[in-house]
Amino acid sequence: MLHRVKVLVGVSGGIAAYKVVDLVSKLVRERAEVKVIMTKNACEFITPLTFSSLSKNPVYLNDFSKDGIIPHLALARWADIFVIAPATANIIGKCANGIGDDLLSTTFLAYNGPTIFVPSMNSKMYERSTTQKNLSILKSMGCTILEPDIGRLASGEVGIGRYPDNEVILNEIMRIVVYKSLLFGKRILVTAGPTREFIDPVRFITNRSSGKMGYEMAKAAYMMGGDVKLITGVTQLPISLKGIERRHVATAKEMLNAVREEIEGIDMLIMAAAVADYRPKEIKSQKIKKDEEQLILTLERTEDILKELKERKRDTQTFIGFAAETEEHIENARKKVVEKGLDYIVLNDVSKEDIGFESDENEVLLLDRRGEIIAHIPRKQKVQVAKEILEIVLERG
Ligand code: PMT
Repeated sequence: MLHRVKVLVGVSGGIAAYKVVDLVSKLVRERAEVKVIMTKNACEFITPLTFSSLSKNPVYLNDFSKDGIIPHLALARWADIFVIAPATANIIGKCANGIGDDLLSTTFLAYNGPTIFVPSMNSKMYERSTTQKNLSILKSMGCTILEPDIGRLASGEVGIGRYPDNEVILNEIMRIVVYKSLLFGKRILVTAGPTREFIDPVRFITNRSSGKMGYEMAKAAYMMGGDVKLITGVTQLPISLKGIERRHVATAKEMLNAVREEIEGIDMLIMAAAVADYRPKEIKSQKIKKDEEQLILTLERTEDILKELKERKRDTQTFIGFAAETEEHIENARKKVVEKGLDYIVLNDVSKEDIGFESDENEVLLLDRRGEIIAHIPRKQKVQVAKEILEIVLERG
């Protein structure tokens, strides 16, 4: 996702400096070009060699070059995004007040692109009025400030000031440089994952949905600046979704009720959930004993969430459904887009093992409300498929 993006990482002297090693490694894995500036104090916590080995670039330590290049100007010109992590109270104070007395602070002075500060320090220092004032100054300059986590600090105390998860920093970098703010100010409701339809207190009927496609749709919408709510069936996903409000449901009925409650005022509904079409007619209150050779279950239809919403849908709202098909793919998707009153349907072939259910990749066709195929997104990571679906839909207005 960060192919050819030039990320300048400024490491100042805090105990969390060692955690930036993992950030640089994640950035390189996303194929970003990474250069690292370290302050003198940062070198007390970790060696420049670690960063130069990972980034495959020299680490920049001071502003004095012998070959005619002025490092702070050259680095400021080079970077697409500047991430200062960990940002100590000292570097925050210098950047907020125009002080340039080392390479990191002079580079910040010379740079006018997107900047992310990752404050990380003892909670008393973080909460100090001067630090808060300096952070407000940086915010007013257009910098992004990532709120530190609350937890156990290096001093042994518990409070605010912990360096956040590197996934959160990575997401923020991607949100700024990869995703355009196409959904800024829009409210998006996404459903994801399977539903569970109970037979008795310990058994249920479900399907193979892992939730990955829906979670990536939610993440892409959030990255594009949307105000995103996710209604999710039970999944095992570790995906980091900071900034997205999540509601957990189990059954189709619970998902319908949650969607009904959240639908008011939304601009876009994305139904990626694999909602059960049938549920046991009767749920036994006690665990069924295995006394009989055969057990016959009578199933009844669940409510169709999209059909229930069809009449209430406003012209200003965009509804995107998904079609999980194993045969007569296009005909079935065309039928669903009309019957369910959708603006778009994303068709995936769930008979293939390497796309669709559970896998990290998908390949889809996108159909419009008349059932016309408007795009083929070839097999790629679900995160990229999600981004492209939204870009195509938004481009068409
Ligand atoms: O979760 P993953 O492992 O990543 O897999 C992704 C996926 C294959 C589940 C996903 O890409 C997908 O196709 N989701 C829709 C699955 C599905 O229920 O398809 P369907 O063809 O049965 O339903 C069509 C549409 O109607 C869907 O938008 C569905 O959410 C909706 N529906 C279905 C049944 C029902 N009772 N109410 C509904 O609103």
